[in-house]
Amino acid sequence: MSAPASAAPSQDELKALVGRAALEHVVRGEIVGVGTGSTVNKFIDALATIKDEIKGAVSSSVASTERLRALGIEVFDSNAVDELAVYIDGADEIDGRGHMIKGGGAALTREKIVAAQSRRFVCIADASKRVEVLGAFPLPVEIIPMAARRLMRQFAALGGLAQVREKDGLPLVTDNGQHILDVTGLKIADPLAFESEVNQWPGVVTVGVFAHQKAQICLLATPEGVQTLRYD
Ligand code: A5P
Repeated sequence: MSAPASAAPSQDELKALVGRAALEHVVRGEIVGVGTGSTVNKFIDALATIKDEIKGAVSSSVASTERLRALGIEVFDSNAVDELAVYIDGADEIDGRGHMIKGGGAALTREKIVAAQSRRFVCIADASKRVEVLGAFPLPVEIIPMAARRLMRQFAALGGLAQVREKDGLPLVTDNGQHILDVTGLKIADPLAFESEVNQWPGVVTVGVFAHQKAQICLLATPEGVQTLRYD
């Protein structure tokens, strides 16, 4: 009788797998940039196992800061650090050039800030995040609330439908005290141009396209193991 086929790993197991794989990219003796989200939570748990080998972390959200501190990892203010060797974060979508949609966890502004101060962005994701063209995932955009109505019209002119993200029936308030628009119906064929354009609309704090701050490496968890994709 043949042995029963082992069940395919769950998405949660894939996230844990890639969270552990990211430890290989953590520069020992330095401060590491840490993103936000359920995949990063697995990375933070793994990071705790080598906490004596790093100086600490710069975090991209209140949620990640709390998790890092609870595990005994020191969290530094981003202004206390000139440059980080590596930033490790998840993504909602990643294309074949390392461009991403981020912000499903509403932390996109601080994520982009920490990514910008890092020499290398290592994206950790499960295979469901890999796409040919960005835009199937609703694009998060952090905005100043008083600009919401006009920005919704500007997205409509691009063919997108923008909605204010809510939590418990009220607009979600970000760590920066702002709101999030989620925009559906976009096909972002030129992420660099799109990011540049939307970034300069008055009232936009941060657009969740990460093309200027793209990933140099993506660790992609698949049922067959972790693939390393390079975009240098
Ligand atoms: C947080 O604001 C996001 O940018 C996350 O990096 C992204 O949503 C991925 O999150 P998960 O790892 O939870 O899918």
